[in-house]
Amino acid sequence: MKLELVKTIDGSNSLKNLIINDSYHSKYGAINESKHIFINNGLKRISKKKIRVLEIGFGTGLNALLTQLYCDKKEKKITYHTIDNLPLIEEIYSSLNYCDQLKIDKNIFLKIHSSLWENEIELSNFFVLKKMNCDFTKILFNEKYDLIYFDAFSPSKQPEMWTLNNFKKLYECLNINGVLITYSSKGDVKRTMKEVGFNVYSIEGPTGKREITLASKD
Ligand SMILES: C[S@@+](CC[C@H](N)C(=O)[O-])C[C@H]1O[C@@H](n2cnc3c(N)ncnc32)[C@H](O)[C@@H]1O
Repeated sequence: MKLELVKTIDGSNSLKNLIINDSYHSKYGAINESKHIFINNGLKRISKKKIRVLEIGFGTGLNALLTQLYCDKKEKKITYHTIDNLPLIEEIYSSLNYCDQLKIDKNIFLKIHSSLWENEIELSNFFVLKKMNCDFTKILFNEKYDLIYFDAFSPSKQPEMWTLNNFKKLYECLNINGVLITYSSKGDVKRTMKEVGFNVYSIEGPTGKREITLASKD
């Protein structure tokens, strides 16, 4: 895997996959983007005391980190399942500057990365993490979730992630009143989601992006 460490405009790092020429986050700010999309417009919409989250594309672990910080602060129990078929090596993840930027202890982030894959691990009183090293296009889910962070590479770079069949799988593993949130606002993506049965909403994006997409299973 050929990766380049990059700095985004809010000062936080991201990575660029040089093979498919796509970045893990927006150039306008990795932390800013993750917070806006996944925490403020995803997690904060779920009012249950115990929340089950599924993330497609664990990547740098930034979404997982922000989710743990949120649930530890709010004392909400979160079980967080995340999948990635190309986990980062230690040399790369330990060079990411998220903890400095957020002014928190780096061990929280390192524990997220060094925790065993394929096992549910209790990382705090409120946050349970399971990382799965597998291919999203092949996996069948046998558990249900309240919230899905769909954070694959872009539809133009990785169209096989954004297919009808894949959104069907996600629709089926969502609980009623569950929500899927993603940064993409492409018309094709929204049409595919609607075809599967989601109610689809365009909502304001983070800096540098007009809209993002929220899909709900009502
Ligand atoms: C946009 S990045 C994810 C960013 C991430 N959520 C973060 O906070 O850094 C997309 C991720 O999807 C992963 N990925 C690509 N194809 C995949 C597949 N077929 N199955 C599972 N993960 C995949 C990549 O390895 C990459 O880590």
